[in-house]
Amino acid sequence: MKKVYLDYAATTPVDKRVVKASEPFYTENFGNTMSLHSFGQEAKFYLDQSRQTLADLINAEPNELVFTGSATESNNTALKGCALRERSESKGKKNHIIISSIEHPCVVESAKWLKRQGFEITKLPVDEFGLVNPEDVKKAITEKTILVSVMHASNEIGTIEPIAEIGKICRQAGVYFHTDAVQSFGKIPIDVKRDNIDLLTASSHKMYGPKGIALLYIRDGVKIEPILHGGGQENGLRSSTVNVAAIVGFAKAADICKKEMSKEAKRLSKLRDKAIKNILKIKGAKLNGHPKKRLPNNINVSFPYIEGESLIIQLDMHGIACSTGSACSSIKLEPSYVLLAIGLKPEEAHGSLRISLGRFTTEKEINYLLKVLPKITKQLMAMSPFKNNEN
Ligand SMILES: Cc1ncc(COP(=O)(O)O)c(C=O)c1O
Repeated sequence: MKKVYLDYAATTPVDKRVVKASEPFYTENFGNTMSLHSFGQEAKFYLDQSRQTLADLINAEPNELVFTGSATESNNTALKGCALRERSESKGKKNHIIISSIEHPCVVESAKWLKRQGFEITKLPVDEFGLVNPEDVKKAITEKTILVSVMHASNEIGTIEPIAEIGKICRQAGVYFHTDAVQSFGKIPIDVKRDNIDLLTASSHKMYGPKGIALLYIRDGVKIEPILHGGGQENGLRSSTVNVAAIVGFAKAADICKKEMSKEAKRLSKLRDKAIKNILKIKGAKLNGHPKKRLPNNINVSFPYIEGESLIIQLDMHGIACSTGSACSSIKLEPSYVLLAIGLKPEEAHGSLRISLGRFTTEKEINYLLKVLPKITKQLMAMSPFKNNEN
């Protein structure tokens, strides 16, 4: 059976060029960057080189990047690290964090944890396309505000947020601005200086690099409390022996993305638009997210009377791997809070499908999806008990 992977927003395969670049760092250049001998110093040289490559992709300085083990860790560090440090430095006067209502769970849960530690949390609404209104950010900032965290692009609906406007507002108000750029890093241009970004999260495994490595950009001058304490690696901000092989791979992945970005964005946007145009011909299908301000690789659609999970299983039986828009909690299936935040009814949110394209997606694969999907949705709609209830 044909196998078609269309879940690049969940994770990506490691590019073979990345595997080749990192291989020697497992067996030959395996030194500990903190060691004074030549093994350690050689590893340190490649660590510094990789830091430079990654910093270049977002117009940051290399000393402003901290390597972490995951985007979850970076986001936790950004929110908790800033919040705890600023509350302490202001002797408790500052205690307010602002996030959007469509952030990834690792931001939402970090904010919830901070609430339990006595911080005030504001969740900003989004419009029907998932856009945060910068004016709402302005209105929500008070003299107690420490940090605003608004993602660059949504992992579910692909909407690209107005981070430049939000960054400007935050800088003028003297408030830190963090953006979770996990889904946009390496796909669309980012400039931390131009856009007044103080902290930014990016992850290797969403851009054809290895898993277990991510970064947090922390603008020079931003004060942050470390979450991990120990040997003092990464300027004391993230103690742990540095994973050089993964970092070299991450940097190689960034280098490839940088070189191929504009061509690849055009190619994927074309495939995405072809797919959207044809999927919307399916009866009742509705596009979620912004029609234009959208990641080149994201498609999110809802179908009436269909359970997203059934759709995923049926597609998988045809060799196609996609994702639902719903977040699965361990015991019950809950509709995605992101889709509810953009105004979908719970039953609409349940019937959603996220298709995310990537470097190895071909037109042939999209044609196959477009052949299979209408048949499956037709069958599932015909079988739907919800539909029968309405008749
Ligand atoms: C926008 C966004 N933020 C954070 C994460 C968390 O990444 P990880 O699970 O690799 O830590 C993801 C992963 O899907 C994501 O899409």
